[in-house]
Amino acid sequence: MLKDSYPYYLASEPKYANTDLEVTNKYTQEVATKVALADADTIDKAIAAAEKAQPAMAAMAPYERQAVLEHCVKRFTERADELAQALCIEAGKPIKDAKGEVSRLIDTFKIAAEESVRINGEVVNLEISARAKGYQGMTKKVPIGPCSFISPFNFPLNLAAHKVAPAIAAGCTFVLKPASRTPIGALIIGEVLAETDLPKGAFSILPCSRDGADLFTTDERLKLLSFTGSPDVGWALKAKAGKKPVVLELGGNAACVIDEDADIEDAIDRVIVGAYYQSGQSCISVQRLLVHSKIYDEFKSRYVERVKALVSGDPSNEDTFIGPMISEGEAERLYGWIEEAKEKGATILCGGTRDGAMLEATVMENVPKDCDASAEEAFGPLSILVPFDDYDEALNEVNNSRYGLQAGVFTRDIYKAHKAWDVLEVGGVVIGDVPSWRVDNMPYGGVKDSGLGREGIRYAIEDMSETRLMVIRTP
Ligand code: SIN
Repeated sequence: MLKDSYPYYLASEPKYANTDLEVTNKYTQEVATKVALADADTIDKAIAAAEKAQPAMAAMAPYERQAVLEHCVKRFTERADELAQALCIEAGKPIKDAKGEVSRLIDTFKIAAEESVRINGEVVNLEISARAKGYQGMTKKVPIGPCSFISPFNFPLNLAAHKVAPAIAAGCTFVLKPASRTPIGALIIGEVLAETDLPKGAFSILPCSRDGADLFTTDERLKLLSFTGSPDVGWALKAKAGKKPVVLELGGNAACVIDEDADIEDAIDRVIVGAYYQSGQSCISVQRLLVHSKIYDEFKSRYVERVKALVSGDPSNEDTFIGPMISEGEAERLYGWIEEAKEKGATILCGGTRDGAMLEATVMENVPKDCDASAEEAFGPLSILVPFDDYDEALNEVNNSRYGLQAGVFTRDIYKAHKAWDVLEVGGVVIGDVPSWRVDNMPYGGVKDSGLGREGIRYAIEDMSETRLMVIRTP
């Protein structure tokens, strides 16, 4: 159950505001709760507090930061049911996916707790010529400074955690703007952080409207911007971010190659999950399925039968696989793409209907490549089938996209696996599984329009740290 209202966290403290933001249950569309809404003045105060707290945060010993992260692990474990229920309501996430996200949240904080005590430098041998005789260098990592984080609606807990947890490990204060449609998960993280010994002002978690949100990007006191969300918004923010480095985790239209030697049943088991879990609202959801023509017909008929059998409806039911999309507007958008593809000659193999925010799990074939359903990010329960005859052509087709986040390849041929790893223009190639596969310590991020930089705790800590050199001369 959700509380009647939630405060935001300003300079580590819960505060209610004059203005609230209503948060709806995405399945019933009814108002489920409300949260305090920050204005520009509040965001300015939060940034000032983060700047002021930065020296104290940097001075925390690694074991002290580890203790904060371990406290979070303990409390999230104790509050796991409540967190899953909150996700189910605010995001419409099927309860079993919501429980999965909570366990990943716990993993993410555990990994950060481990990494927090192994942030090391190196000894650099500087004696490269006679003039450097007697000189030695040493590096250490220092926190980059106050960070700005903007997190998306599709993983309200874990994608906020991928910013918050490494920041604590690295010794950075931060301000976080959670997605306006799903702010509750991040505010519960705030509740737990407020129980810890983080310096006062070290964090602020502020749902806010567009007005004022610009400061998260433009304010020079913030030394790093890490954004997860849509490509158009992400690249526009980068253009406004000034001198600060920017990490962008953006979208994709992930492809999965099923080669002729694949175990069809196993591939279908995995693709069903990769394409349709949480109604396809993941940046690495399987969208384009490239299937070898020798197995295409068999794959198609078995796959479509399985998709038709997916249970859709109330996300709070344990057996629900397909819940609502985040909003009726989003479902309408994707429905429009499906209709457009149909008008241009595509065939709907199953699904293709919409009721409010509920879009049926849809499979299509013969989709022209220039249709949005193929070329853009569906971010919903849609997969399209494309036959291929030649493995190299299939890899080219994976690359025939403005995106490049992750790709999956079902092959048992080690040489073909290496070829995929060599030539696919993506941040990660998953062999024997779907592009949607992720655990939280792996480097995760994209190339091309899919983003810049990598998350995955250790990689995020690198972005949140500067290398500082000390040179010692021994006369
Ligand atoms: C994303 O949608 O970018 C995140 C996917 C994941 O963490 O599994």
